[in-house]
Amino acid sequence: MFEHFTAYAGDPILSLQLAYRDDPRPEKVNLSIGLYYDEQGRIPQLESVQQARKTVLASTEPSVYLPMSGNPAYCRAVQRLLFGENSPALSEGRVATIQTVGGSGALRVGADLLRRFFPDSQARISDPTWDNHRAILEGAGFVVQTYAYFDYEAQRLNFDAMAKELDQLPARTVVLMHPCCHNPTGADLSAAQWDVVVDIIKRRELLPFLDLAYQGLAEGLEADTYFIRALAASGASFLLANSFSKIFSLYGERCGALSMVCANAEEAQRVLGQMQQAVRRNYSSPPAFGGSLVQTVLDTPTLRAQWEAEVETMRVRMHTMRTRLYEGLVQHHPAYDWSFLLAQRGMFSYAPVLGPHMNRLIKEHAVYIIDSGRICVAGLNEQNVDRTAQAFATVLKA
Ligand code: LMR
Repeated sequence: MFEHFTAYAGDPILSLQLAYRDDPRPEKVNLSIGLYYDEQGRIPQLESVQQARKTVLASTEPSVYLPMSGNPAYCRAVQRLLFGENSPALSEGRVATIQTVGGSGALRVGADLLRRFFPDSQARISDPTWDNHRAILEGAGFVVQTYAYFDYEAQRLNFDAMAKELDQLPARTVVLMHPCCHNPTGADLSAAQWDVVVDIIKRRELLPFLDLAYQGLAEGLEADTYFIRALAASGASFLLANSFSKIFSLYGERCGALSMVCANAEEAQRVLGQMQQAVRRNYSSPPAFGGSLVQTVLDTPTLRAQWEAEVETMRVRMHTMRTRLYEGLVQHHPAYDWSFLLAQRGMFSYAPVLGPHMNRLIKEHAVYIIDSGRICVAGLNEQNVDRTAQAFATVLKA
């Protein structure tokens, strides 16, 4: 019956994660998947989340189905985190939000909806982007092309090329964007550059689909929402997928949300109904536990303050590790200009020059990166950063 099923080559990021897990070498360094490790090389259990877990587990409520759109208190807390406590879009009732199965679930539900209601639209993703963006959009039936984003020669954002290309797209083109911590490059736009993008989106009537998986890890929880809030204030309609995997260290709980910013409250109600239907015919309703943890943290002032401090610790540590990597590379391979690393932010650094050396780095040095040259700086710590820089220098000089 299933003879015609072809073999799956595997996902480039998830396959490496398994290879890393099975690698017996104690000195191994995981810079492949986007997982946050602390200075001791552990995936942390956030203290704020641990406290919330006690509260949630103490509840004697039975586990019933959540509504199709998830836990209403979770959705409200998520909206305030993303759009701000005093957001006009929220007070006008223009934002429809559902709880989703991680950020990927939000992307897929959003992509399905867009495909259904904009069947003539094409989709654009940045060059480069997270591999799964293309897979999810194509899986929903979109023809997917790229827009200019990164100058591979200069190893920096190429904003002029990006703006020029966006300014030529047909109305209602779906444009996938990263509001902060661009994955894989770590190259973000400045506030002034986002303003230019907002203007283009409005003028050309583009249909932005934002993917926010790293809020707080570039400049801070508020600062990283600059583009989202500017777009909402402009009156543009857009979609926003967000994930709590990294910033709550809750990868396995699959906590995310999809928000759709609409023209008015009446439209938002109709849009919410379609979001609910898309969920019902897909997985019916999201799981409850992880969302309860996130909502408890966000809505309990002491836990909220504790969590914000924990996110800030992650942000600062990754920044420090990127700087330490830069210093190590300057020491071990001074002939190469590594200054581009210092302009990058968030969980990833991007050095395409290392991509072709992935196999040697894994085999000879037990250093795992992905084949694009993306480096998850959260896998670095004071114990392994210098050895990693040396490994990079060694393969490049060979
Ligand atoms: C990543 O980019 O490494 C993460 O978002 C994990 C994933 O699912 O690919």
